[in-house]
Amino acid sequence: MAKLERASFGSRLGVVLATAGSAVGLGNIWRFPYMTGQNGGAVFIMIYIFCVLLLGIPCMISEFIIGRYGQANTARSFRKLSGGSMWSLIGYMGVLTGFLISGYYAVVSGWCLEYIWASLLGKLQGDTEYISNYFVTFSQDPVKPLFWTFLILFATYMIIENGVRDGIERASKLMMPTLFILLLVIVGASCMLPNADKGIEFLFKPDMSKLTGDVFLAALGQSFYSLSIAMGCICTYASYFSRQTNLTKSAVQIGVIDFLVALLAGLIIFPAAFSVGVKPDSGPSLIFITLPNVFQQAFGGIPSLGYGVSVLFYILLSMAALTSLMSLHEVSTAFLQEEMGTTRKRAALMVTVGCIVMGGVCSLSLGAWNGLRMFGMTVFDMFDFVTGQLFLPMVGFLTCIFIGWFAPHKIVRDEFTNQGTLRNVTMFHFYLFLVKYVCPLCILFIFLHQLGLL
Ligand code: PFF
Repeated sequence: MAKLERASFGSRLGVVLATAGSAVGLGNIWRFPYMTGQNGGAVFIMIYIFCVLLLGIPCMISEFIIGRYGQANTARSFRKLSGGSMWSLIGYMGVLTGFLISGYYAVVSGWCLEYIWASLLGKLQGDTEYISNYFVTFSQDPVKPLFWTFLILFATYMIIENGVRDGIERASKLMMPTLFILLLVIVGASCMLPNADKGIEFLFKPDMSKLTGDVFLAALGQSFYSLSIAMGCICTYASYFSRQTNLTKSAVQIGVIDFLVALLAGLIIFPAAFSVGVKPDSGPSLIFITLPNVFQQAFGGIPSLGYGVSVLFYILLSMAALTSLMSLHEVSTAFLQEEMGTTRKRAALMVTVGCIVMGGVCSLSLGAWNGLRMFGMTVFDMFDFVTGQLFLPMVGFLTCIFIGWFAPHKIVRDEFTNQGTLRNVTMFHFYLFLVKYVCPLCILFIFLHQLGLL
């Protein structure tokens, strides 16, 4: 009987855009700017580049190797490469991490949709207190955020249900270039504001006195989050790569795209913030509270420009969130489809329902169910903590140890060199050195630090 052919991406461009779509998300446009703002600007960016190159890209290549070799969902791919040993558990943990993250990621993605709507209706105009109240009232509302969460999950379902090529690849090929164009348009508008040069200087002129150990740790964590590492996404997408895909080259291209998007997001936010004298270190509320204010004041002279920039910015943010949410959803969909032997449609539907339930609980925990706490944290914060600060470093660390020390060396080398056709053996040894020693030590360091043990 003919074996059913596994789904795959149709082109090299598809591979890069879909995987970059997973990487480029709220992490680039929401998290990177506020981390940069809080950690000294250009210095943070320098360390961040260093972390992407020495930590992010090798970890990404490791996941590529596992996924492409396995040609299956993350759990099964780990199982194949480990010969069914205890190391398979990392794959299951990766799938679980991806699933748990999709719940609260969908909630924040839903907020972005609300902000498109609110800016379209001109509701994001008012003084600082009004905008701050707007966000608090909205995020604590029992119905509105749930509606937007549901809507973005429905959009994700519609894309995922269409499969790898007609769903994920096609949507990424449409959304990623659009996202770049939008970014460039808004960067142009922002950099032409008076005093924009101060913001640009903040991003590009390092002040070495700001360099501390914490900056290093923040950059390390951000590089992981931003590249979608340790959550099953990269591994799942790699199972759709062809045997000819050059894994190192693709990882570098994705790392570069991801970094450029983050930098361009910085080039929107900092020039605008400095232009109106707002400090860009307000933390997570930067995008939802500080920014509407900044846009309003900065482009206040030409109201229609402020309005346009605001609408475009939230469309951009929502698209970036959607391509990442797709990849998170795909991790669990591929898992259920293959492990339960069910259809893609049914698997996707089950995942969507699961995400709606999780997202619902997370969202309500910010308002009506605020009293429901575990270890003093709301459910929303708990999801963030367990996935981002516990599972993510654990899966990342164990993946490096597995690939560096325990996986069959020949398979790892053959995948890296495309069965010896790529002539990149020297690079392979450098990669192996990073994965064996540098990456696990760095990850262990962040993990212990985050838990306050170091
Ligand atoms: N990399 C995404 C971002 O920067 O927003 C977030 C993310 C997506 C993390 C998918 C993990 C993941 F599996």
